Amino acid sequence: MPAINVTNRAGTTTTVPAKVGHSVMEIMRDGGFDELLALCGGSCSCATCHVHVAPEWSERVGPPGRDEDDLLGSSDHRTATSRLSCQIDFTAALDGLAVRIAPED
Ligand code: FES
Repeated sequence: MPAINVTNRAGTTTTVPAKVGHSVMEIMRDGGFDELLALCGGSCSCATCHVHVAPEWSERVGPPGRDEDDLLGSSDHRTATSRLSCQIDFTAALDGLAVRIAPED
């Protein structure tokens, strides 16, 4: 089964199973990462699903969309590889993806 590697705010990395067709936020939520609040449920309006994509995965994941970019602009913890995990659709090409949960704003 495909999987992603998630590093929590304490710095612990865990590998969790990932289903094609789910968003990375849903995969993380199903994996038990309670610190990822995802308050809006994936409708790109809260920014509480903010992750930093590992630089080596950034190109494959791609840049944020316009609305996502606007929301990320309000974060104090934005980096060059920031994404909202609800806006990343998991595909087979992302098997092994590594993300880190961004600090809370
Ligand atoms: S869950 Fe709210 S923006 Fe991603």
